[in-house]
Amino acid sequence: MRVGIARERLEGERRVAATPETVRQLIGLGLEVVVEQGAGEASGHSDASYAEAGAQPAVDLDLASIDVLAHVRPLDPVTVGRLRRGAITVGLASPASELATVRALAEAGVTAFALELVPRISRAQSMDALTSQALIAGYRCVLEAAMRLPRLFPLSMTAAGTIPPARVLVLGAGVAGLQAIATAKRLGARVSANDVRAASADEVRSMGGTFVSLDLDAADASGGYARELGADRAELQRRLLAPHVAEADVLITTAAIPGRRAPRLVTTDMVTAMRPGSVVVDLAAESGGNVEGAIPGADVRVPVHGGAVTLVGMKDAASSMPSDASRLYAKNVANLIELMTVDGELLPDFDDEVVAGAALTHAGMVRHEPTAEALAEASGPRAVYMPPPASAPPETSATSAQPPASGTEGGA
Ligand code: NAI
Repeated sequence: MRVGIARERLEGERRVAATPETVRQLIGLGLEVVVEQGAGEASGHSDASYAEAGAQPAVDLDLASIDVLAHVRPLDPVTVGRLRRGAITVGLASPASELATVRALAEAGVTAFALELVPRISRAQSMDALTSQALIAGYRCVLEAAMRLPRLFPLSMTAAGTIPPARVLVLGAGVAGLQAIATAKRLGARVSANDVRAASADEVRSMGGTFVSLDLDAADASGGYARELGADRAELQRRLLAPHVAEADVLITTAAIPGRRAPRLVTTDMVTAMRPGSVVVDLAAESGGNVEGAIPGADVRVPVHGGAVTLVGMKDAASSMPSDASRLYAKNVANLIELMTVDGELLPDFDDEVVAGAALTHAGMVRHEPTAEALAEASGPRAVYMPPPASAPPETSATSAQPPASGTEGGA
C-alpha cells in the first residue's frame, strides 16, 4: 500500500506528517511511502533526506494513486474529492469546525482517522497528537512571554542589587499548562496555577508550581476533562482569580473544554488591574479566547495606569516550532498506522478501542457520534451519516467502503 505525505497547503503551517525516521518505520512495515516535493522543508527535512530513508519523491502528490494520506491540518472538501473511494486518511481533522470536510469524507467513502479522537488511554499515548502538540505549545507560550517581559524571570542577586523572580500565573493546567509551568520554573520564575479538575492541584505541585486554591467545587467531566462552568460559577471564578491576576507579571491561559468555545477566565477589567509592562499570553485565542480582547496572531496593547499590558493571542503555536512538533506528530501518525497494519496492508480493526475511537468516517458513515449529530443538526433531514448501532457487526476493512445508499439520503 502507498502512503502519501503531502506538503501542507495552509498558510503558516510548517509541520509535516512524516520525518525520514517515520518513513523508515513505515517502510519497515511493508508500506511504500511517497513524499511530495518540499513537504519537509519548513521543518528542516530535505527531499534528499526522505529519499535516503527510502521514500519515493513526487513533484505533486497524485491523490488518486494513494491508499493512505497522512496530513497535519484538516483536509478541505476539494482535496477529499480527489482521493479514491476506500482511501484512508490519518491526521488532525477538527471535526467540530470542519463539518463540510467530514461530509465530503463520508460521501467519498474515505476512512478518516482523526488524531484528536484517539482515546486518552495509556496504550494510545504514543499516538496522542493532542498531547504532543500541546506540549510544544505550552513551552512556546512561556518563551513568547519571556521575550516581551521587560524584566528577568529568575531571582538574580548581584553586587548591583537583587532582582526578584518574575511571578507567572498559569490558568488551565492540562498538558500545555503543565508544560508552561515546567518551562517557567526552569527559567527561574515563581509559578502558580489554577485549574478546575480535582486532580490538577497535585499535578501543578508535581511540576513545582503553587496551586491557587479557589473556593470553588471541582468540575470534572468524563475522560479526565473539565466540565464547563455555569454562568454563576464562571463569574465567581473570575472574581476569585482577579487578585491573583493583578499580582502576576506574566499570565498564561490554556483553559479548554473539548468541543466548546474556550472558557472566558479573564476580563479586560482584570487585565487593566495588572502592573504596566506585564504580559498576558492566551493560548486559547484561536478557540474563542480565555482572555477578553485577545486576537489570534496579534499583540494587543492594553492601556493601564502608567503604561500598558501586552496581550498576546497565540496562533499556530505548535507550528512555530516545526522541527520538534513534526518529530512528535509524525511519530503519532506512524504509530497509529502501525497499529492498523498487518503484513503491509492497513486493515483497521474496529474492535480495537483506539482504532474505533479515532475513526471519524468509514464506509460512507460518520462514526464519531457527536460529529454525526452536529452534521444532522446542520443539515436537517438530509443528514444520514450516523454511526452504526452498537449491535452491528464490526467492519474490518477500509477497502470495502461503500458509498451511502442513495435512498438513505432523504430523497436528496
Ligand atoms: P484541555 O486542552 O481540554 O484543557 C486544558 C485545561 O483547561 C484542562 O486541564 C482543563 O481542566 C482546564 N480548564 C477547563 N476549564 C477551566 C476553567 N474554567 N478554569 C481553569 N481551567 C480550566 O485538556 P488537556 O490538556 O487535553 O488534558 C485534559 C486531561 O487529559 C488532563 O486530565 C490530562 O491529565 C489528561 N490526559 C490524559 C492522557 C492519557 O492518559 N493518555 C494524555 C493527555 C492528557
